[in-house]
Amino acid sequence: MQVLEDLSTAHATFARMSSYLTHLESAWDGSRHDFRSAQTIHAGRPLLARYDLERIAREVERDSTYFNAGCMWSFRDLLPVQDDSNIVSFGELATPTIQLGRLGEELGLEHLFVKDESRLPTGSFKSRGMSVALSRARELGLKRVAVPTAGNAGGALAAYAAKAGLEAWVFMPSDTPEVNRLECQLYGARVVLVEGLIGDCGAALREGQRQFQWFDMSTLREPYRLEGKKTMGLELAQHFGWRFPEVILYPAGGGTGLIGLWKAYEELCGVGWLEDRRPPRLYACQAEGCAPIARAFERGERTAEPVADAHTLASGIRVPSAIGDFMMLDALRASGGAALAVPESSIRDWMARVAASDGVAICPETAVCFEALVRLVASGRIARDEEIVIFNTGAAYKYVEALRVATGEPVARIDPRRAIDWNPIRSRIGV
Ligand SMILES: Cc1ncc(COP(=O)(O)O)c(C=O)c1O
Repeated sequence: MQVLEDLSTAHATFARMSSYLTHLESAWDGSRHDFRSAQTIHAGRPLLARYDLERIAREVERDSTYFNAGCMWSFRDLLPVQDDSNIVSFGELATPTIQLGRLGEELGLEHLFVKDESRLPTGSFKSRGMSVALSRARELGLKRVAVPTAGNAGGALAAYAAKAGLEAWVFMPSDTPEVNRLECQLYGARVVLVEGLIGDCGAALREGQRQFQWFDMSTLREPYRLEGKKTMGLELAQHFGWRFPEVILYPAGGGTGLIGLWKAYEELCGVGWLEDRRPPRLYACQAEGCAPIARAFERGERTAEPVADAHTLASGIRVPSAIGDFMMLDALRASGGAALAVPESSIRDWMARVAASDGVAICPETAVCFEALVRLVASGRIARDEEIVIFNTGAAYKYVEALRVATGEPVARIDPRRAIDWNPIRSRIGV
């Protein structure tokens, strides 16, 4: 398999100066918008990139070597960049879909998988979105970009902006995990800590916009991050032989991952590449301390009420109000899935259990999905023989604070200057 470490090496073979992007379309009222200038939202709601899918179906061969390059950018034909020389990439290699054999057996589930997005640059799925968004930002001539973040998006923006040579500003809640803040600083971003939640960060960013002229890269206010996230779904379908698994569980915050997965499904139907057009049932998983989508889903509403006093250890999904709420809710319903909230206390238990049973360290956001899974199986909404994929959206190692909570086990210490007394060690470790 050919591996694209850096897109610059691929340019000689694949360099292209056009794309199949036709326009941007309002997700709310369907109006068309020009992609040749930098766009944000229309009537307060997101814009979606639209492609000439019929032309792709005619001109692009699904099984070409290029498509099997094992890299996010091998899906370039379904991405919006016009000129390959603008691509900002660290080589976003396809993430593995790993079977959790031991845990699956314990839970009585035959086909339980994790798609491990923690392998990506900056340790989360956010790099997919930022790779595409910064490529477009460079293409459109932007010089200064800013983002409100729950953590991981800030680190990804900072890294890709550094590579693209753009100035980056990151607004994050003051209690964001420390590693998230440090990585932004390391990549040279200007970091502003906000006493509040991600919505307050967005408000602060927009207040400074006139003065600082930065481009707002917020989730779904910028149309191309979603396109990068969409590649999670394209890649997953490819791994399953151009079809989707029956069930996908995803930790939902701002919603780009979930909406991107659904967009991938729709576009693959549009280009006719699926061997089996059955949609995956999408489940949006949230923590009880911040579950606007789960509440709206239960009530049958199309948009979600903002959550007051949002709190959860799973900082990436501490999003009290999402601009793409209706897009998430529409996708969940169209897919035949659902949204649900689980207790906060389950997060630490699942972080520890998944890592110890199968050696996959999951982030707190993904831990929420495991509790949701168990509940969905118990209530019969997921069958034991179904193919289930849970997205591990970020690297557990970035959450030092959560790791401390998840690892209650005491450790033994030895002083090599003294004879070792194994009895206290045995009792401490519990052997
Ligand atoms: C690790 C992790 N998981 C999930 C999410 C939720 O993202 P979204 O709902 O936008 O896909 C985030 C967002 O910050 C995150 O960092």
